[in-house]
Amino acid sequence: MRVLGIETSCDETGVAVYDTALAGSAGLRAHAVYSQIALHAEYGGVVPELASRDHVRKLLPLVRQTLAEAGLSTADLDGVAYTAGPGLVGALLVGAGTARALAWALEVPAVAVHHMEGHLLAPLMEDDPPEPPFVALLVSGGHTQLVAVDAIGRYRLLGETLDDAAGEAFDKTAKLMGLPYPGGPQLAALAEQGTPGALRFARPMTDRPGLDFSFSGLKTQVLLAWQQSDQAPQTRADIARGFEDAVVDTLAIKCGRALDAAGCDTLVVAGGVGANKRLRAQLQAMCAQRGGRACFPRPALCTDNGAMIAFAGALRLEAGQREDAQVKVTPRWDMAALPAV
Ligand code: KG4
Ligand code: ZN
Repeated sequence: MRVLGIETSCDETGVAVYDTALAGSAGLRAHAVYSQIALHAEYGGVVPELASRDHVRKLLPLVRQTLAEAGLSTADLDGVAYTAGPGLVGALLVGAGTARALAWALEVPAVAVHHMEGHLLAPLMEDDPPEPPFVALLVSGGHTQLVAVDAIGRYRLLGETLDDAAGEAFDKTAKLMGLPYPGGPQLAALAEQGTPGALRFARPMTDRPGLDFSFSGLKTQVLLAWQQSDQAPQTRADIARGFEDAVVDTLAIKCGRALDAAGCDTLVVAGGVGANKRLRAQLQAMCAQRGGRACFPRPALCTDNGAMIAFAGALRLEAGQREDAQVKVTPRWDMAALPAV
């Protein structure tokens, strides 16, 4: 089954074709992402109306480009999958409307995909994929969640952030040190120049049991350290390193606890912060020590993309799920409410 995937939930237009006849990474026939970062940079964050309008401009050319790269035409498609939530309502409607219209015109089924399920299943597109049960750490700009995956489509929330998401903490911390939006990757690059241990920040909520997170206090600690420092380039790098180490340690400690709670040793990590090198290394080491493993998508499939939507949609279409002919999105959507596959 060849499925076109469309992602427009926030500030990236993503399109891909996944072919279930070809296993693992070979199934991904083509994928393309257009990032709106430059468009929103001068506002210091995503402007929803500008995001919607840019998806309108970029989506169809990107569909054409992706099909050309895959060497396919629209007639070769067996289904269309689109992100129906969570996300910005206007941005979601662009993808849903386009996907629904394409599916109707091509007389193929359409399926709505939960953005976070897309992230969660992205590591399964790689070779040697993990099989449930496993624990998933979802770390993006909008979410920080630990999820027990009993089967594909059966998700139990084990813990989540009580305030800022991990990616949001990276972005806000980067901003307060003067790095441009979105600061996560830039803060991580700066941390490479920092001296380990030069500054130590708290590992929030690790001193008591539980699987929830809180990152907003950490941001305040960094702000104070930054204001009281000489703000020289090396100090900035040291603070970035101290912050990154605090976030990575905190995530690793909670992942270990979540694996204990779920009684398994396989961890799946997805979402934009999953591209962070130090997080990848630390979680891999932690899982190896337990005799298990940590599975990640390649960095390009950690951040928002159409491939994860094509893949998750293909699994659901193969299980017989379909949307009726209306354009419907769900900007707030609980993953535990999804039907099993
Ligand atoms: O999953 P994603 O692309 O979009 C959402 O659904 O939110 O995640 C974007 C988030 C941003 O906060 C970005 O700063 C962060 O992921 N991010 C990183 C890195 N790459 C992306 N954070 C830390 N280190 C990175 N290398
Ligand atoms: Zn995302």
